[in-house]
Amino acid sequence: MNRLLLPKRYLMYALLLIVLTLLAAPYTLPRAYATNVSATKHNLSISGPGLVKAISETRICVFCHTPHNAVSDVAGINIPLWNHTLSSAVYTVPDKTNPQWAVLLSTPQNPPDGDSKLCLSCHDGTVAIGSVVNLGGGAITISMQGTGAGGLMPAGAANLGTDLSGHHPVSIAVNNSLLTDKLQQCSTGVVSFQLCYPTTGQPVKLRPTNNTYNALPGAGNKGGVQCSSCHDPHTDPNPGTTMFLRVGDKNNTTPLCTTCHVDCSGTCP
Ligand code: HEC
Ligand code: HEC
Ligand code: HEC
Ligand code: HEC
Repeated sequence: MNRLLLPKRYLMYALLLIVLTLLAAPYTLPRAYATNVSATKHNLSISGPGLVKAISETRICVFCHTPHNAVSDVAGINIPLWNHTLSSAVYTVPDKTNPQWAVLLSTPQNPPDGDSKLCLSCHDGTVAIGSVVNLGGGAITISMQGTGAGGLMPAGAANLGTDLSGHHPVSIAVNNSLLTDKLQQCSTGVVSFQLCYPTTGQPVKLRPTNNTYNALPGAGNKGGVQCSSCHDPHTDPNPGTTMFLRVGDKNNTTPLCTTCHVDCSGTCP
């Protein structure tokens, strides 16, 4: 073996490592964009970039938040100064007796709770987009354009409806017991992915839920999976592609999914 070649080879490895690190960086680092609601489809004021927007209302946050007389909690879970009228719909949720969900261990909360109730207040298509609890001292329905009949979410993919059985489960607690039982399913070959906690600093978040698994609440006060675990309703740098996702985009969901679902043969970070 030629010893003189060794340093060169190490240099090559070092360069390769740097290149690989640079290539991997955009997929592993949290999204670097600043929050800018006004540039997203969630800017429902007249200045909004989407088709669904107000006819004259200029304020952006009012569709979801109010500084006064806000809805302060959903079944005991604190929510941020909420203003949008909540839905009273009853949902069909993923059910482990359904063959599609045969490997599911959790029983999702029905109706969903916490942040998921907030998203569903517009996205289940049963409450008018402009319907708010407090604007200028009372409940009002802000006049909108681009909505479906009755001021509701227009038909299409953003209107989830009330059958959530074809969607990722929400309002499910994530705790040590669930992680252990999922690993058990790994060992019997029932699933290919174990469950892991999103690590601190990850964009993906566990959010409060009243639901439990094995009568135990979600890990510490970190909670479980809600719509807002995967989505940040305030940040969507590339509308139609980034889909308000906390990491990745609709064409690249791997970094999102693998935050919580890690190969059975792998180890949690
Ligand atoms: C389309 C609905 C919607 C709009 C519009 C909206 N928000 Fe929110 N906001 C939410 C939801 C849902 C949550 C809870 C989930 C979460 O924390 O991501 C939230 C949480 C928050 C929180 C607490 C959590 C945090 O990230 O700090 C603050 C503060 C906030 N919003 C401020 C604002 C401001 C300021 C605006 C206007 C510029 C705004 N929001 C517009 C839906 C909205
Ligand atoms: C486990 C992660 C995850 C959870 C939880 C989740 N979503 Fe999503 N969502 C995604 C991903 C990934 C996409 C983009 C890919 C796609 O459209 O299927 C998406 C897309 C969407 C879209 C856009 C559909 C379209 O094509 O226009 C809406 C609206 C949406 N989600 C709302 C919700 C709501 C409301 C909840 C809670 C009831 C929720 N999501 C929970 C991951 C999630
Ligand atoms: C006040 C009503 C309202 C609330 C609350 C709300 N949304 Fe939306 N959302 C909308 C509207 C309106 C659109 C645009 C629909 C369209 O263009 O057809 C939209 C679009 C989206 C899209 C599609 C983005 C795209 O580029 O196509 C996603 C994803 C989404 N919302 C997720 C969420 C999630 C997750 C929450 C809760 C954290 C939430 N929304 C809360 C009204 C709302
Ligand atoms: C915040 C953590 C989290 C994220 C992110 C996440 N999941 Fe999940 N997922 C869960 C939990 C918790 C369950 C419930 C497991 C159970 O009860 O057996 C689950 C269940 C599932 C299941 C049922 C099978 C199983 O192993 O339980 C599938 C399939 C699934 N998720 C796919 C996805 C996909 C695809 C994505 C990315 C779009 C994703 N998940 C993102 C936490 C997450």
